[in-house]
Amino acid sequence: MQPKKIIIDTDPGQDDAVAILLALASPEDIEVLGITCVAGNVPLDLTSRNARIVCELAGKTDVKVYAGCDRPLGRALVTAEHVHGKSGLDGPDLPEPVMPLADGHAVDFIIEQLRDHAPGTITLCPLGPLTNLATAFQKAPDVVNRVAKIVLMGGGYFEGGNITPTAEFNIYVDPQAADIVFKTDIPKVVMPLDVTHQALVTKPRNDAFRALRTPVGIAVAEMTEFFERFDKEKYGSEGAPLHDPCVTAYLIKPELFSGRHVNVEIETQSELTMGMTVADWWGVTDRAPNATFMNKIDADGFFALLTDRLARL
Ligand code: RIB
Ligand code: CA
Repeated sequence: MQPKKIIIDTDPGQDDAVAILLALASPEDIEVLGITCVAGNVPLDLTSRNARIVCELAGKTDVKVYAGCDRPLGRALVTAEHVHGKSGLDGPDLPEPVMPLADGHAVDFIIEQLRDHAPGTITLCPLGPLTNLATAFQKAPDVVNRVAKIVLMGGGYFEGGNITPTAEFNIYVDPQAADIVFKTDIPKVVMPLDVTHQALVTKPRNDAFRALRTPVGIAVAEMTEFFERFDKEKYGSEGAPLHDPCVTAYLIKPELFSGRHVNVEIETQSELTMGMTVADWWGVTDRAPNATFMNKIDADGFFALLTDRLARL
């Protein structure tokens, strides 16, 4: 089977970094057409720096990395240094990037790639706020129907929120953008907190990263050791939740996940519940299902795949 052509839209972030590494380690499954960066966990200058650091860590300096939107569509930027550290990639001591940013804006790259490839051949994989995707769809409505699928990390239902009681960070930062994306007819697979909170880097799993004895394995162990603090304190978790790598793992081994095709709408009016993903899990409305909302993962299978692939870098 041909590798899936994807664009990773991202706000690295340690978990974004692991998602990118897993993709770059899996050329038989995934062809990364480019990486587009967005403001989210940290401001855009840092997310676009961090994405290049990760590509260099993977030894893939030929990957095109674009800077995109530096703020949400209609709200002030909210960042998450309290989770990811000041740099957004705290934990390992990695060198400043040498590879340059690709010329041009991330949004124009997304539009150009969708126009240059046959309809239905590109999967968009947003791992942060949906600002770049929504801006591309607004600027070039003709590309919307050319997207094969969107596989995104964002939202939560049974798990509630991680930045407010009701909202998950990626959706909360740019609810207007999320509303635009969720209102398209593009097939969507959503990795919400309901499933990502089951993908925890426990000590044995972290030890397995370190036991790779490679710069990538050690860096991933150090990244996840750093970024687990927030979830350990808040949820009493056994380790860092690998939110974004669930997107990449789905592209490689979708059978690791299960969920339900339901209607998901985004709260964009009430400040109390701003950014909430209102998932009609029990089908109590007549709103048409528009997303496959995952709630189960084979966590051991996920970590076996991840560790096996990281060993290749
Ligand atoms: O809520 C978790 C999400 O927000 C992850 O994508 C993390 O990287 C941050 O962007
Ligand atoms: Ca992210």
